Amino acid sequence: MAEPLPSTTPAPMEGRGGYNRASAVQEHGASPALPLFRAAAEAVPLAESPAAIVIADYGASEGRNSLEPIRTAIAALRARTGAGRAITVVHTDLPGNDFAALFAVLAGDPNSYLRGDPAIFPMVVGRSFYGQILPPASVTLGWSAWAVQWLSRVPAPIPDQLQVAYSKDSAVRAAYAAQADADWRAFLSARAAELRPGGRLVIVTMACDAEGDFGYRACLDAMYAGVGSCMTAGLITTAEAARMAIPTVGRSLDEFLAPFSGGAFDGLTVEGAEIFLAEDDIWRRFGSDGDAAAFGARWMAFSRASVFPTLAQVIEGPDAEARRASFVARLGDKMAAELAARPEPTKIPLARMTLVKTG
Ligand SMILES: C[S@@+](CC[C@H](N)C(=O)[O-])C[C@H]1O[C@@H](n2cnc3c(N)ncnc32)[C@H](O)[C@@H]1O
Repeated sequence: MAEPLPSTTPAPMEGRGGYNRASAVQEHGASPALPLFRAAAEAVPLAESPAAIVIADYGASEGRNSLEPIRTAIAALRARTGAGRAITVVHTDLPGNDFAALFAVLAGDPNSYLRGDPAIFPMVVGRSFYGQILPPASVTLGWSAWAVQWLSRVPAPIPDQLQVAYSKDSAVRAAYAAQADADWRAFLSARAAELRPGGRLVIVTMACDAEGDFGYRACLDAMYAGVGSCMTAGLITTAEAARMAIPTVGRSLDEFLAPFSGGAFDGLTVEGAEIFLAEDDIWRRFGSDGDAAAFGARWMAFSRASVFPTLAQVIEGPDAEARRASFVARLGDKMAAELAARPEPTKIPLARMTLVKTG
């Protein structure tokens, strides 16, 4: 199969700490998976000392939202090992990720898991998690939050939306479903190779609920209208607008479990998996402050930090940098205004699961 063009693969999150400043939705959403990660750290078999215990964080972005889960796992491990046992934390992301922002968080954030524990050794890997990126049987605990909904590539343009969940084009929906299945199996195979026997992987990621609802409807409609407005204003061409797609999927519980229909998949088994609805903290805040402009700005910032870079990267040509900046500014303004005009709750379906390397 031909390599996809660079602009048909997802872009990293907004750099220079932008993702860290606008990812409270993800932070709140992942918190119901923390007890799973704590339980995994309590139960997982450990290698003989002095071998380092390896925790891998797949799709870390700029690291702020990794602090709490990694601290949680370290606390459970320290209760078993005492002080001094070396623990390696490997944060992984795409090569273009802002790893400098991640290191700044580790060094300076008051919640950094490095505080008070000199035997923790963080490092990073800048490679796609759809291949094996760590040595065989080296990982004791894996964590992945809000990351595996990103496909490895855009399988097809979406003619009638930015997000395939709201497209009426059945061929396009099928192309995304096939890519989602292939990517999920590739992710699982790679993690199966990296985990030690008995190693645990806890995943929290976007999903579809039991009714097949992906959620974020108002946000996505406002974004799609915003892209249209950028095209009408001449900031982007019709061809560029047509190529803009968000390569994320919300898998159903059945889709998550499909590789495990025969029991284990590449030696991984499911210890528990469920779909849940995350608390909509932006709506809760609107309920207490009644500030519609802040409501629109918060959902816009969530979208700008996570999705706008992938949309903007299709803008090419000699003036691409300036046009991308204008596009992001106008899209953000339009989206925020549209959302502020009609505040409504947002459905946030997520999956959480624990996988164990048994084979
Ligand atoms: C929404 S952020 C989640 C960051 C953080 N884990 C959190 O919970 O807030 C998703 C991250 O997954 C990364 N990502 C997407 N596809 C990836 C891939 N194929 N390999 C590695 N990282 C990937 C993105 O670059 C991004 O930093």
